[in-house]
Amino acid sequence: MTELVRTDRAEETTGRWWRDAVIYQVYVRSFADGNGDGIGDLPGVRSRLPYLAELGVDALWLTPFYTSPMADFGYDVADYRDVDPIFGSLADARALIDDAHRHGLRVIVDVVPNHTSDRHAWFRQAVEAGPGGPARGRYIFRDGRGEGGVLPPNDWESVFGGPAWSRLPDGQWYLHLFAPQQPDLNWENPEVHAEFESVLRFWLDLGVDGFRVDVAHGMVKAEGLPDVGHTGQVKMIGTGVVPFFDQDGVHEIHRAWRRLLDSYPGERIGVAEAWAPSPARLAAYIRPDEMHQAFNFHFLTTPWEAAGFRAVIEESLETAGLVGAPSTWVLSNHDVKRHVTRYGGGAAGLRRARAAALLMLALPGSAYVYQGEELGLPEVLDLPEEVLRDPQRLRDPEDGRDGCRVPIPWTGAGPHFGFGPPGTGEPWLPMPLSFGPLSVQAQSGDPLSTLSLYREALRIRRERRAFGDTPPVWLDAPGGTLAFTRGEGFACTVNLTGEPAEMPLPGRMLLASARPAVEDGVVRLAPDSAVWWERDGL
Ligand code: GLC
Ligand code: CA
Repeated sequence: MTELVRTDRAEETTGRWWRDAVIYQVYVRSFADGNGDGIGDLPGVRSRLPYLAELGVDALWLTPFYTSPMADFGYDVADYRDVDPIFGSLADARALIDDAHRHGLRVIVDVVPNHTSDRHAWFRQAVEAGPGGPARGRYIFRDGRGEGGVLPPNDWESVFGGPAWSRLPDGQWYLHLFAPQQPDLNWENPEVHAEFESVLRFWLDLGVDGFRVDVAHGMVKAEGLPDVGHTGQVKMIGTGVVPFFDQDGVHEIHRAWRRLLDSYPGERIGVAEAWAPSPARLAAYIRPDEMHQAFNFHFLTTPWEAAGFRAVIEESLETAGLVGAPSTWVLSNHDVKRHVTRYGGGAAGLRRARAAALLMLALPGSAYVYQGEELGLPEVLDLPEEVLRDPQRLRDPEDGRDGCRVPIPWTGAGPHFGFGPPGTGEPWLPMPLSFGPLSVQAQSGDPLSTLSLYREALRIRRERRAFGDTPPVWLDAPGGTLAFTRGEGFACTVNLTGEPAEMPLPGRMLLASARPAVEDGVVRLAPDSAVWWERDGL
C-alpha cells in the first residue's frame, strides 16, 4: 500500500484501522463528473478528494466502475480487471487510489462475485458452446421442466421480480438471481475460485485497502436447487430462509478470501453485503477467519422509535461481540430510500436524520456514510417516468432505486449544481431545484448546516479514538429517549419523540443536532434531536 503521508493519521497505519473507521460510500456514477458528459467518473472522484479529507472520513468505498453494459449500473461486470470508459481508465483508477492515500484516505472497491454480466467473455463462450461442456459449467445451466423443458428448472424468483431463470434459444435455462443480464456463477467450479482470487490480487496489487463483497451470501446454492415452494420470495429478502441465500457453504469462500487478504501487508479488509435471517446468522460472516465487517441492515431498517433502536443496538453489539468483531452502522446506501425520507421526509425527516447521524457516530464500531447524507439530501420522489432506469423498479414501481442515486449538488446554481464542469450538459438523472440550498457550497459556511454537523461530529470522533470498542452504558432516560455513555468522559442523548424531553444534565454540551435548553441541572432536549456531551470528572 502507498505510504500514508498525512502525519496526523500516522497512527492509523498500525493497529486495526477498520474497527472504528468511518467509510464513505461513493456511488461513482452520481458523485462528480470530471469530463462533463453528465455521468460521474473516477477523475471526478479524484477532484473531490480534498472535500472527503476535510469531511474527516477514513476511507472511501467506490461502487463498481469496471467494464459493464450497465444493465444494473455496474453490478453487471463484463471485465473485472478494467475500467469502463464511462468512468475513465485503469490509469485513472491507479491515480485515484494513490491520490486518496496521499490524502490519508483508504480505498475499498466493490467486487461482484455472485454473477457476471451476460457480456462477460465467459458467458458469451457459454452461450456459443451449447449444452454440456466446460464453458456452461462456469454458470448454472439446467434443462427445463415439463414437456419439452418449457418450464424453468425450479420456482426461484429473481430479486428484481419474475423468474430467476431465462432460456436460451438452444433450450437450456440459466440462473440469474438478479436481472437476466446477470447470470449467476457456479461456485462449485474451481475455475471460478481461481479467477476471483486472481481478480482480488489484481486490485490488491494496485493498492486497494479492501473489498465490499456484493451479495456475499449468495454464491452457494442449496444442493439440488430445491424449490422454495411458494411465491413472494422477493418479499422475504433479508429475513426469509431460502435455498439460494445464506447457505453454509459460502463461508468457505470467505475463509479463502480472508487468507488472501491477510497475505498482503496493511490490513486489507473484506466487507460483506450479506442479508441473513438473523443477527446471529449475520455474525457468522465476521468470524475471525472470515470477513472483517458486514453491513448492519437491521440498524438501517429500524423505524424512528427509541425502544426499537435500543434493541437493535444491543443485539448488534452482542452478536458481533460473540465473534470478536466490531459492529457496523449504516443508515443509507444506493439500494434504499434515503433516510431523511424514510424517517418521514420534510423538516421532521431532516431533524431525525441529523439526530440519527449523531447516534450512529456515537456507537462503537465502524460507520458508513452514503454520499449526500452529510448534506441531508432526501430521496427524489418525483423523477419523471422516462428517466427511471433501475431494473429493480420492475418488481415494484415504488421500489426503484433511482431516487437515491440523483447526483450530488456541489454548488448552489443549476442546471447541474457543479456536478460537472461549468458549461457542460445535464446530469444522467435530473437534479431537483430543491438541491441548490443543500449544496456543499451553500452549507459550507453555515455552522448550523447538516454538512457542518457531520464535519464536527467526525472531528470529535477522530479526536476521541480512545472510545475504541468501549460499549455503551445506558443511562436512565424518559420514554422515547435514549441516553448512554461511552467510556469515562462522553455521553450521547437522543430524543426520538416529537415533543421536548427533560432529563438530568449529562455534562457539558459538545455538539447538538438541535440545541437543547439547559437550566438548573436539567436539560430539555429538542424534539427529534441528539446531543453529545462531555462528562468532566464523571
Ligand atoms: C447488491 C447491490 C445492488 C445490486 C445487486 C446485484 O445488492 O448493492 O445495487 O443491484 O447487488 O448485484
Ligand atoms: Ca463523466
